Amino acid sequence: MNYLASYDKSIQNPEAFWKDQSKAIDWFKTPSNILSTNDDDYHQWYEDGTLNMSYLCLDKHISDGYGDQNAIIYDSPVTGVKQAITYNTLKAQVGQLASGLKSLGLEKGDTAIIYMPMIPEAIVSMLACARIGVIHSVVFGGFAAHELAIRIDDCKPKVILTASNGIEIQKIISYKPIVDEAIITANHTPQNVIIYDRRQGVKIPQKDYDINYEKLINSAEEIEAIPVASTHPLYILYTSGTTGKPKGIIRDTGGYATALKMSMQQIYGVNEGDVFWAASDVGWVVGHSYIVYGPLLNRNTTILFEGKPIKTPDASTFWRVISEHKVKTMFTAPTAIRAIRKEDPNGTLIKKYDLSCLKYQFLAGERCDASTLKWTEEQLNIPVIDHWWQTESGWPMIANMAGTELLPVKPGSASLPVWGYAIDILDHEGKIVPPNTEGYVAIKLPLPPGCLMNIWGNKQRFKNGYLNQFKGYYFSGDGGYKDEDDYIFITGRVDDIINVAGHRLSTAEMEEIVASHKAVAECAVFGINCDLKGQKPMGLIVLKSSTNHKIEDIKKEIILKIRQEIGPVASFKDVLVVKRLPKTRSGKILRKLLRNIADTNDYKTPSTIDDVNIINEIESVYNKNKIGKYN
Ligand code: COA
Ligand code: AMP
Repeated sequence: MNYLASYDKSIQNPEAFWKDQSKAIDWFKTPSNILSTNDDDYHQWYEDGTLNMSYLCLDKHISDGYGDQNAIIYDSPVTGVKQAITYNTLKAQVGQLASGLKSLGLEKGDTAIIYMPMIPEAIVSMLACARIGVIHSVVFGGFAAHELAIRIDDCKPKVILTASNGIEIQKIISYKPIVDEAIITANHTPQNVIIYDRRQGVKIPQKDYDINYEKLINSAEEIEAIPVASTHPLYILYTSGTTGKPKGIIRDTGGYATALKMSMQQIYGVNEGDVFWAASDVGWVVGHSYIVYGPLLNRNTTILFEGKPIKTPDASTFWRVISEHKVKTMFTAPTAIRAIRKEDPNGTLIKKYDLSCLKYQFLAGERCDASTLKWTEEQLNIPVIDHWWQTESGWPMIANMAGTELLPVKPGSASLPVWGYAIDILDHEGKIVPPNTEGYVAIKLPLPPGCLMNIWGNKQRFKNGYLNQFKGYYFSGDGGYKDEDDYIFITGRVDDIINVAGHRLSTAEMEEIVASHKAVAECAVFGINCDLKGQKPMGLIVLKSSTNHKIEDIKKEIILKIRQEIGPVASFKDVLVVKRLPKTRSGKILRKLLRNIADTNDYKTPSTIDDVNIINEIESVYNKNKIGKYN
């Protein structure tokens, strides 16, 4: 198929284009109103259609005669378990859990939090919620109790589904105490906590609200999927914003199903029946779209991998999984490749495996440096495709569409916009900038199906954060430029969000936590370059003059505070004490300058700064601590 002809059609007549695409979905009621406007004056897709995501991911394939095909291959190097789950088995488990949830009083429109490690029960929980119209919100297991509490208060779940524990390489992470602590901290108390016991010797503290997962499903009869409106929220997924509070991105059902189905075939190049692997976590958008809903909608076998690219047991794990389960398309973050490359620079471990099944290697989640791209291309000798998207979009916005037509690769660019996305680079007044000029990456409205509907409980934040910056556009929060061939190069966030190992984190949120330490008068948290994780957070603090604590103790306490409140995944390990922070005359902290000093980049001292001596002092503190490019 020709990329450009379809792209033009999708932009010139989105309604006709997306009407065609929606025919690939088995609707309960076929939509006639393809594109309309909702009460908030924002676009919506397939408004009068009804469907059910769980039905599309399970029942449809079984009625088409594929019940015995593997839906999930659970490969867990951390436990040594490998388990294949067919569509028939998965449907039975989902149907039973949905029935169990219903018996607890959950109904269409209620919310449920899922806080689980990478085990099949996490997918079963998501699909069970979808089956009865319950809106799920999956929270990544690396987040601490405080983060979980924020989400509990925001989406007010009727139940939390969790498991006894996760496993981080060899370390057991006990989940139930985290859930209990979050419930104590939160104002909202869920009615029940449903716990799946992995039987790995973890003691599970008992509470009155507890329900055993297995008991709940054992006594339950399978339940059928109910029709929901296309615009019914399938899930809320929290992501970092530029304030201390994460924002709950709301995803619809019908638009998302249509977009994902198309993306599996046209972008990722997989046909029904193929094996697809996204090495992410169900707690991130990649997990939602490409571990769970996308592959299952497209009747693929999805790999659920509980491990890391290295150390579980070594840097050959990815290649072992690909070769053993015959993966056709694989998706991971550049960080994971960098970690593997560090351990196996010559690809000796790669050569041990027959990877002839692998046709495409996709990379996303952070900027892909040219060296990582080139190394992966040389090692795998297949198309390696950098593609750009975000939690808000739910599916790729810029990509070389492998299933359609592979375009020439330009390292540093994810190539051209995907069908449906009209992307412009704007200056601060909203005018389109000339080629090769950096600006704000914005997408013309209406966004194609599958993108965010709103922010849970905060319509104003949705409008202010995404729509009000540039009239007629959605603003992505990223900066970038287009070259003369319209290839788009994303240069990074233009706000206070950093990307640590492909994980999106808010420095504003970290700053709030650091500032709450009793010895801290003032602080700044910003991202600095990291050869492995792309970026890492670092904190600068100014101490209160009244403080008589030891500096080393203060630093340790602050590091622990971030770990306890956000979670270990923040990788916050560096704090420096300075006498003052560099500020403009109006009092704004010069973060870019701090970043440049820490990254040992060239920089100019801006004339707006009120005291140049501060810069010298900060520079000497950095030099003394030898912080800059580090692993
Ligand atoms: N539950 C509990 N803790 C978790 C966790 C989880 N689900 N995920 C990560 N953590 C913890 C880790 O144990 C580690 O804790 P530590 O400070 O006690 O060692 C900390 O969070 C940082 O973890 P991680 O980001 O995994 O860094 P690492 O240094 O352990 O490993 C990599 C480095 C590169 C191997 C790892 O970051 C990686 O696999 N990156 C790719 C991630 C990815 O796919 N991102 C894209 C998502 S779309
Ligand atoms: P998340 O919402 O967690 O998926 O993070 C999305 C952000 O990650 C984007 O806004 C970008 O800043 C960054 N990102 C994701 N993919 C890429 C990519 N291929 N190239 C550059 N940045 C990326």
